[in-house]
Amino acid sequence: MATLQQQACKPLPLRYIGDLSATDAELLAVYARNASRILEFGSGASTQILAKNGSIEGTLISVETEPKWIERTKQNLARLSIEKEVRFIAYRDWQEAVTAEAPFDLIFDDGADKYRERFALDAWKLLKAGGRLLFHDTRRKKDFGNVLSFLQKHYLEVSSVGLNEAGSNITVLTRKIAEPWVDWNKVEGRAKWEYGHAEPPTPLPWNVPPKG
Ligand SMILES: C[S@@+](CC[C@H](N)C(=O)[O-])C[C@H]1O[C@@H](n2cnc3c(N)ncnc32)[C@H](O)[C@@H]1O
Repeated sequence: MATLQQQACKPLPLRYIGDLSATDAELLAVYARNASRILEFGSGASTQILAKNGSIEGTLISVETEPKWIERTKQNLARLSIEKEVRFIAYRDWQEAVTAEAPFDLIFDDGADKYRERFALDAWKLLKAGGRLLFHDTRRKKDFGNVLSFLQKHYLEVSSVGLNEAGSNITVLTRKIAEPWVDWNKVEGRAKWEYGHAEPPTPLPWNVPPKG
C-alpha cells in the first residue's frame, strides 16, 4: 500500500468531460505545459486539457464548426472551474480571425473529419519553427492518411514525426525551417574525382605532405 508521502507525490488524474483517452489527454497536457500560444480545431475535452495545462497568461484559441459544441464546451469549462480565457472561433472565418495571433507553439487538429486535412495545411503557416502540430485519431486509417498526405507536401519542413506517440492516438510533427535538397557536391565545392565521377590523381592530394 502506498505511503501518505507516495500518495502526496502521485500526480492527480486529469479531469475532463468528453471523448478522449486518458493517454491522449496526458500527452496533450505534456505538450500544453510547454506552450504559451495554442490553437486547436475541434472544441471539447481537448479544450479543457489545453486550458488547464497551458500557461495561464498564454493564448488558447479553439476553432469549431458546431455552435452547439462550443456552448457545451463552455459549460464544461465552467463545471470544472477552469478559468483560463478561451477564444472560440467559428470555422468559417477562422484564418482571418487568428492570423494576428501567430506564430503558435502548439496546434491540435481534432475537429470535424472532413475539414481536418485542410485545417492542418492552413494552420501549418501559423506554427513557429520548433512548434508542434498534433493530429488526433491517427490509429484510424483516414486520419493517418491525413498525416501522409500532409507530409507529401511539407516533408522538408518537418524535423520529426512521432507516430501515435507514447501509446497514444496522436501523431506529433515538429516544424523546422525548410531544408530543401541541394547538390551537395556543388555546395561543398568537391572536385569530380572526389565524388567518384572521374579518376582520382596520384598521389591523392590528401596524402602529399605539406611543403616546408
Ligand atoms: C470527436 S469531436 C472532438 C472534439 C474535441 N477535440 C475533443 O477532444 O472532445 C470532433 C468534432 O465532431 C463534432 N461532433 C462530434 N459529435 C458531435 C455531436 N454529437 N454533435 C455535434 N457535433 C459533434 C464537433 O464539431 C467536434 O468538434
